[in-house]
Amino acid sequence: MSRSGKVTVVGAGFYGSTTALRLAEYDIFETVVLTDIVEGKPEGLALDINQSRSIEGFETKVIGATTTADGAGYEATANSDVVVITAGLPRKPGMSRMDLIGVNAGIVRGVAENIAKHSPNAVIIVVSNPLDEMTALTRLATGFPHNRVIGQAGMLDTARFTHFVAEKLAVPVSAVKTLTLGSHGDTMVPVPSRCTVNGQPLSTFLSETDIAELVDRTRNGGAEVVALLKTGSAYYAPSAAAARMAKAVIEDSGAVMPVCAWVDGEYGITGVYLGVEAEIGKAGIRKVVEGALTESELAALKVAAEAVRAKQADVVDL
Ligand code: NAI
Ligand code: 2OP
Repeated sequence: MSRSGKVTVVGAGFYGSTTALRLAEYDIFETVVLTDIVEGKPEGLALDINQSRSIEGFETKVIGATTTADGAGYEATANSDVVVITAGLPRKPGMSRMDLIGVNAGIVRGVAENIAKHSPNAVIIVVSNPLDEMTALTRLATGFPHNRVIGQAGMLDTARFTHFVAEKLAVPVSAVKTLTLGSHGDTMVPVPSRCTVNGQPLSTFLSETDIAELVDRTRNGGAEVVALLKTGSAYYAPSAAAARMAKAVIEDSGAVMPVCAWVDGEYGITGVYLGVEAEIGKAGIRKVVEGALTESELAALKVAAEAVRAKQADVVDL
């Protein structure tokens, strides 16, 4: 099996470490680099993952590197093809993602500047919250073209929606297709008109009330996990989503995924990072894919665009 490329995961917390493990287990990258500001944590986790290689049967090597805010340690990340930014605080019960904006903006800006310096050609996948704003901030801080800065949210929110539908109807998840667009927050736009079960519209199987309940649960999917965990937020489904995006980049696969991408005219919306479907390849976003929406879904997407536009304007000064 041939392996190629280097992926860096910044932040070795729950999200970052599970993402690094998934990426290593794909066995498609030459190297996975995991970094954190907590001395020894990324090195320890990298050693632990490497010691699982003979059991799980993968050859990708994981390198752990402690970094500092002034950029020491970033040499280990040099010339990465893909970088996943997970650095930042997760929320606690009762907090909204937006409550994290002040502290996480400082962290993400510093990380983005260091990444731009050491990996000027990388595709960056942002996951730190609040997601839509941290994606916009990373673009600003790196000066990268918009196509090379992508946010992860839609893959996760869509996977949650799929799980809830499959559970409700007691069918395999493989029989279910769902979609969420919009923001990774209050203005998330689950899209029932694009949801199917065994190729048939969701409305064939569920009443409007049932669908509305599942939509609501999807919108609160992150908070539901936070409330159960009591400390920290979800990471198994989130890391699966970010890892699949990194895989699509390195394999130049052209997979179409719901992601946070720069929208420039699609759906009549211009100049904002927003959750939409996009084709992913070596250059990051190849193109935004505009799908059919009902009138009310399109209206909700436009509301989401204006809500995140206002917040994304604020990140310039953070
Ligand atoms: P965590 O607290 O387990 O890990 C965060 C890690 O970032 C810590 O190890 C911390 O030391 C590290 N860190 C802080 N500043 C850093 C810096 N300057 N450089 C490198 N590392 C640094 O949190 P977790 O669960 O890993 O979540 C990480 C972020 O991902 C949070 O902001 C969370 O809200 C977000 N998230 C986003 C999701 C999405 O769908 N976009 C889903 C789930 C979480
Ligand atoms: C989630 O949706 C908290 O954004 C995080 O799980």
